[in-house]
Amino acid sequence: MLITTTTGPLLQTASDLAVLFSPEGAALPAEVAALLEPSDFTGKAKELRLLYPRGVLPIKRLLLLGLGKAEKLDGEALRQAAATAVRQAQELQVAAFTLGLFGAPTLPAGELGQVLAEGLELGAYRFDRYRTGLTPAQQFVVEQATIVTEAANDDLAAGVALGQVVARGVALARDLVNAPGGALPPSALAAAAIALGQRGGLKVTVMDKPQLVEQGFGGLLAVGQGSANEPYFIVLEHGAPAEGQPTLCLVGKGITFDSGGLSLKPADSMVTMKMDMGGSAAVLGAMQVLAELQLPLHVVGLIATAENMPSATAYRPDDVLTTLSGKTVEVLNTDAEGRIVLADALFYAQRYNPTAIIELSTLTGAIMVALGPHATGMMATDQTLADRVKQASETSGERVWQMPLWDEYREMIKSEIADIKNTGGRMGGALTAAAFLSHFVGDFPFVHLDIAGTAFTEKPSKGYQTHGATGVGVRLLTAFLRSYVG
Ligand code: BES
Ligand code: MN
Ligand code: ZN
Repeated sequence: MLITTTTGPLLQTASDLAVLFSPEGAALPAEVAALLEPSDFTGKAKELRLLYPRGVLPIKRLLLLGLGKAEKLDGEALRQAAATAVRQAQELQVAAFTLGLFGAPTLPAGELGQVLAEGLELGAYRFDRYRTGLTPAQQFVVEQATIVTEAANDDLAAGVALGQVVARGVALARDLVNAPGGALPPSALAAAAIALGQRGGLKVTVMDKPQLVEQGFGGLLAVGQGSANEPYFIVLEHGAPAEGQPTLCLVGKGITFDSGGLSLKPADSMVTMKMDMGGSAAVLGAMQVLAELQLPLHVVGLIATAENMPSATAYRPDDVLTTLSGKTVEVLNTDAEGRIVLADALFYAQRYNPTAIIELSTLTGAIMVALGPHATGMMATDQTLADRVKQASETSGERVWQMPLWDEYREMIKSEIADIKNTGGRMGGALTAAAFLSHFVGDFPFVHLDIAGTAFTEKPSKGYQTHGATGVGVRLLTAFLRSYVG
């Protein structure tokens, strides 16, 4: 979508559809007030009222969109409102529309541009690849949105450009997560990384099974051995190490389909398990954003990708694996496979001497029980780093909620016959999973983000979400990475 900015009174700017964002209780402009009964529009959050000014104004349609209480108005509310606006334009089949705020204590222009662009682009996202016979109305594409403000401000357009780059990163992540397991085996995820490297000038290295065997990726190989689709380890590098500059490692779980393996999931729980590479999709989306923005940072993306399948060659409960680190893992449940592939990826990250390791994974059902779909679980070995991620969560609108990573949880995964076991039982399942991961990061500052509850939605709860993949993590990582740029 082309997103442009212009100045002028929104109501006097000719258009087929003008969307006016209005906070609760704000007095509407007189021209608008004259068109409706006062009680018909109060500005409550998500309230919509479509008016036809019929020559009174130079606009064909006027859509009033409530923003809710002015005191509560933030970037997230505007992101959602922008998404609602573009959905309405789609529904009305208006190819180009204008939008503007009224009576709102606005954000700084740069932030405003960014959140509006994100909302517009993400709200317009669709995953139609597999649908045939769509009507022209269902396929209608909004081509242009124009943000109308009272005063000119260069930061607005810059913010829009940034928001569009971020939204493209989110769309990449959504496309990858929405792709079914059969269409996106580990080799295809690797191919997507290579294609991204070529587009964005990143250095991409893909290690195949013989290389994994040679190097001793015992965790990744074990999880991958049950599938006809072989596992891969993917390294993407942006920038180069520099004296006094941070090196940041982003690590993603890339299970392209999680059947549970021999500890097979029940049928109902297996549906949606194509999402189990959501962490790696977020890493790829963020690396694309980084490349497009050409941020002056050294960032390494690491993805362990495999398919977790039951078969005659599958790894078993009771097996003991030797991970890349040399630490041994007793397998109690082959469905706790994410932490096993991540053990190798996190250990590998240490060779970069990273300032921070941020890892994202659809790791546990337990985090869904704890936080539902409204927050990503965060566990950290370093509070300064956790606080930085928390800050990025607030700027990006992607919520995280910190949970403990105490030594007691590490006790819960001690094994009788190996160094650690891969499950600690039902109690504190998300926390013992994080404790497991912490065994493989050495002393490097580490944040684990459990996105099992936030990567995928069957009931979109935000205007810019669509059924399926959310692309969670890309906005958060972008804000996090930008926080290192002065
Ligand atoms: N990929 C799942 C976690 C998951 C569940 C993600 C639901 C998204 C939605 C993970 O590999 C898994 O199966 N975890 C098990 C661990 C258990 C066996 C210790 C779980 O959470 O049930
Ligand atoms: Mn699993
Ligand atoms: Zn999994």
